[in-house]
Parts: sequence; C-alpha cells; structure tokens
Amino acid sequence: MTARTIADALIEAPIVTSFTKFGYEARKRLAGWSALDGYDLTDHVIVVTGATSGLGYAAARQFAKCGATLVLVGRNADRNKEVVAELVASTGNPSITQVAADMGDLRQVRQLAERVLADHDRLDVLIHNAGALSPERHEAPDGTEATVASQVVGPFLLTTLLLDRLAESAPSRVLTMSSGGMYAAGLTVSQLQMPPETYNGTEQYARAKRAQVTLNEMWADRFGHLGIQFHSMHPGWADTPGVDASLPTFSKVMGPLLRTPDQGADTLVWLAADDEPLGSNGAFWLDRRTRSIHKLPTTKRTDTAERRGQLWDWVTGAAGCGVPDLEPSARSAGSSS
Ligand SMILES: NC(=O)c1ccc[n+]([C@@H]2O[C@H](COP(=O)([O-])OP(=O)(O)OC[C@H]3O[C@@H](n4cnc5c(N)ncnc54)[C@H](OP(=O)(O)O)[C@@H]3O)[C@@H](O)[C@H]2O)c1
Repeated sequence: MTARTIADALIEAPIVTSFTKFGYEARKRLAGWSALDGYDLTDHVIVVTGATSGLGYAAARQFAKCGATLVLVGRNADRNKEVVAELVASTGNPSITQVAADMGDLRQVRQLAERVLADHDRLDVLIHNAGALSPERHEAPDGTEATVASQVVGPFLLTTLLLDRLAESAPSRVLTMSSGGMYAAGLTVSQLQMPPETYNGTEQYARAKRAQVTLNEMWADRFGHLGIQFHSMHPGWADTPGVDASLPTFSKVMGPLLRTPDQGADTLVWLAADDEPLGSNGAFWLDRRTRSIHKLPTTKRTDTAERRGQLWDWVTGAAGCGVPDLEPSARSAGSSS
C-alpha cells in the first residue's frame, strides 16, 4: 500500500471529509491530477443528459473546451438552445447541438436516440447525468414513479438503443452520474418504486441511484466484450441549483464546504477523456479512484445474483425493449471492493 493509498483511505472514511471540497482538494494534491484542459477530444462525439445546469453544464463546458462534438440534452428546448449559444460563444467550439427530451418519457427517449443515430455516425461517450431528488411524488407518462423512470428506465432504454453505435465506435464509454446517497439503500426490485402512502424523496432517490450503479456493473458484465466501458460515479456534494432546490437546509448549512460544479464534474470529464478508466469495466468512482458500491453490510446482503436478475428483467420490461441476453462474465454479484 502506498502512502497515497493510505492517505486516500483516511480521507474516504468520514463522509464529510470525503464528499466535501476538502476531499477533492486533498486528493487532487496527493495524486497530482492531470489538468482537464490538456485532453484533446476533437474526434469525440459525446452525448450529455442534464447539460443545462449544475454538474452536466460544467462537464459540457469542459468537453467543449477540449474540442468535442456535443449533443446536449435537457427537457426544455429554449433553455437547451440558450446553453448551446453560451457554450459556443464562451469556448469557440461550434460543434454543439441540443435535443429536448424528458428522460422519464420513453417516447421522447426513443426520439432522442433516433436523432443521435441520424446525426452522428459515431458515439464515443454517452453520459447519463440528468437527475433530481423530488420531494413530491410524480409519475412518468407510463405510470412509473418519475425518479425511477428518468434515472433508471429512460437511461437503460437510451443505452440499449445506442448500443450498436457505441460498439461500432469502440473503445467507447457509458458513464452514469449516481450519488453517495445510494450507500443508504439496498437492492429490492419490489420496493424500487415507493407508493404514494410512504413516498419519501430522499429514500426514493437513494433506491434509484442504487439501481443505477447495480445496472452499470451488469452492463459491463454483459456487454463489456463489445469494447464499451461502463462506469458509474458519484460527485461528492456539489453546490448546484439541483441541490439548492431539493435540499435547501443542507445546502445552507453545508454551503461553504460544498464542491463547486467544476469540482463535482471533474471525475466525470476525466472518465470520458483519460485512458486509465479503459483498464477496468463496471467500476464506481469518486475523485478519479474506484470505490466500493457498499459501505454497509445491510445493503451488501441485499445485493444477490437473484435480485440482480430480477432488476434486469424488470427494467427490460419497463423500458419495453429487448436486449440480447448474453451470459454474464465471471464477476459475482456485489463483488466490488
Ligand atoms: N450536486 C450534487 O451534490 C450531487 C450529488 C450526488 C449526485 N448528483 C447527481 O448529479 C446529477 C446532476 O445533478 P445537479 O446537482 O447538477 O442538478 P441540477 O443542477 O438540478 O441539474 C440537473 C440537470 O438534469 C436535467 N434533468 C433533470 N430531470 C430531467 C429529466 N427528467 N429529463 C432530462 N433532463 C433532466 C436538468 O435539465 P432541465 O431542467 O433543463 O430539463 C438539469 O440539466 C444528478 O443525477 C444528481 O442526482 C448530484
């Protein structure tokens, strides 16, 4: 174990040091991170959902600075177009377009995929970043609870519809922005969607984020051999409009300690641009290092092969799509360390 690894582990143990700007700054100094401006992404086509605000906006701006061809996704076409104009003006990169789509509306997700396939003959990076913690319960057009629809089912459908283009563009990457909130949630498919009587936004969000990181590992197991890298991550705690709106008290109390959006998005951009993530598949990252997907024995116990199979079957049905059912590789369920 190197001194750097030991120091990182000491930072990781208490969540408050790990998730705040303290963790980011300490790890950056310890590891001597490469500067994101140094990456040349001129040949890369990158799709970013949730690019109109917060972490997605910060990542999109960095990708634009690095010369990537970008497709930005948000729900409102006017807002999307404002962001495209801002980024073209501030970075000088003209290769930025937008598609309006609600990731919880499967019809719109299908239209999004059609646009990407029609407009781009390659796809290097697909980023599932769109997300929100909703204090009130909503439902997507098909009746699925909205957090699960927009952060689990919609992204699953989009990956499925773009899988062939990703494979043709290999080595390519599918990156998912999860949350440290998922550490509190176990894996139970029957309780993935909370009913109106017991709905709690924080709990619902954690369950959806747990499903995201589990599916990320399953995608890697099943489709990694196509040359597609699947990685998920969490950004720590960053000061974004989303956090301000959904957790105002937390945002106020923690304000000075929160990461900037650029700091929260750093690992996302690095996962898209650096060669190091190509050396593994299905990993979960924070601050450019792989992390365990479980911190509690109680959640680890819920992460069984049987439940993973149930999750895959459920989401395939909910997305209304069939994906080739290939044999998983040797990875055992919940085996990340
Ligand atoms: N900030 C943090 O500390 C933190 C911590 C853990 C995880 N995260 C995760 O990071 C991601 C970004 O969060 P943020 O903090 O940057 O929030 P944010 O500032 O509210 O940005 C969220 C983005 O997602 C888009 N979006 C939301 N729901 C959508 C939907 N149904 N369909 C399409 N786009 C949608 C929004 O676009 P429009 O409103 O324009 O549609 C916006 O661009 C989320 O997945 C969140 O769960 C953030």
